Amino acid sequence: MNHLLILLSAFIYGGSSFGFSLKKTCPPSFELRDRECHLASLYQLYSSPHGKGVGSLRTALPQHRGGYSPEQIDLGRYLFFDPILSKDKSMSCASCHKPELGFSDGMPRSTGLNGELLPRSAPSLWNVGFLKKLFWDARSSSLETQAKGPLFHPNELGHNAEALTTSLASHKAYRELFEQAFPKMQSITIDQVTTALAAFQSSLISLNSRYDRYAHGYSHALTEPELKGLNIFRSFVARCAECHTPPLFTNQQIAVIGVPPPEDLPFDIGAEKTFQKPMLRGGFKVPSLRNIAHTAPYMHAGQFKTLHEAVRFYTSGRGHAVPEGERLYIHWHIWEPQLSDIEIDRLVDFLKTLSDETFMPEIPQRVPSGLPIGNRKVSH
Ligand code: HEC
Ligand code: HEC
Repeated sequence: MNHLLILLSAFIYGGSSFGFSLKKTCPPSFELRDRECHLASLYQLYSSPHGKGVGSLRTALPQHRGGYSPEQIDLGRYLFFDPILSKDKSMSCASCHKPELGFSDGMPRSTGLNGELLPRSAPSLWNVGFLKKLFWDARSSSLETQAKGPLFHPNELGHNAEALTTSLASHKAYRELFEQAFPKMQSITIDQVTTALAAFQSSLISLNSRYDRYAHGYSHALTEPELKGLNIFRSFVARCAECHTPPLFTNQQIAVIGVPPPEDLPFDIGAEKTFQKPMLRGGFKVPSLRNIAHTAPYMHAGQFKTLHEAVRFYTSGRGHAVPEGERLYIHWHIWEPQLSDIEIDRLVDFLKTLSDETFMPEIPQRVPSGLPIGNRKVSH
């Protein structure tokens, strides 16, 4: 009995690390080399960056942001879910990037710390480790700098670097976990926080959908209607694959496609601001379509509720929804494909084959700060 008690308390208080310790193995789809996790994917067997023409099945993946240690990835997992990252300790990254909603939040636009609506929607984070440009308007080029956006934005997590590192260091569990993840460092720094968050987010890999099985040669992985959808997607009529290029289903470029602003918002100039180029007015980063069935509503401010609505937008004519008085340089691949209702249905059937959450990370039941997870007050 005594032994059991000692064991139990050792588990609850975790001996030295309060029951928290970091994984020493890489997440699935990574292999450990020189104490770093590197992606291992069948797509790496394909060498051509463009495959055999646009939309080709065996297209190589872009470079993946890997090279983090298993401990850094696992520390990032705890941080991502821990409301200690917000000023009033009520929200975490996972408040707006919910695992069960494709790491998006199911809202047309996210709600920040003080209950105000943000101007844009929360993108999915699956495969974000491949992206060279982050945010809808491509204003950030690395996950590390990106993370400082929500951490310090007054209406997101609203923190500042010093208060955050001090608050993390006040928890013995975190002091020990940071030591495991960054053995050579003396104290907790904001760079370690953003490295760990980047490490965790880069581990969110979704490349095992039924589409992928088809691409790797298993011809029965897609049904007839889905295959019809794939062919429309790749066709010169619909041109979807020109921008939503496999295997990530984004070419990572900016494109002006002319999605109308939501009723209560002024027109969002998007990438014009980032690059100071009038040609890019209303331009946004082409989003990946991976796990798209889980991330409604769609577009940069959740303008479309369903996949049908989003796909139908492309059939209504080039520039049809551009607000009066706006002059936009609509991308040359946006045309008037005049797809029939049946073809739109097939496209949607195909988009649903891009779902894969096999490598969903383990969601922590409790976090090192001891704060409750998912207690966020939703106020409107
Ligand atoms: C209040 C809701 C909210 C919180 C909290 C939040 N995000 Fe976001 N996130 C968003 C929104 C909205 C965007 C898109 C903003 C834009 O493009 O202007 C975004 C964009 C991103 C992107 C860019 C993805 C892409 O494809 O370009 C990453 C990465 C990201 N967030 C990670 C995080 C991390 C890490 C945290 C925690 C430190 C976090 N987010 C906290 C709402 C949130
Ligand atoms: C010229 C490049 C381009 C082409 C061609 C294109 N798209 Fe897009 N797509 C984009 C951009 C850019 C966005 C984001 C626009 C925004 O939010 O304002 C987008 C958004 C989407 C979204 C919503 C994604 C999300 O996460 O909210 C879907 C679904 C989509 N496209 C499907 C398609 C389909 C199907 C086709 C073919 C009929 C297609 N796209 C053709 C550039 C393109």
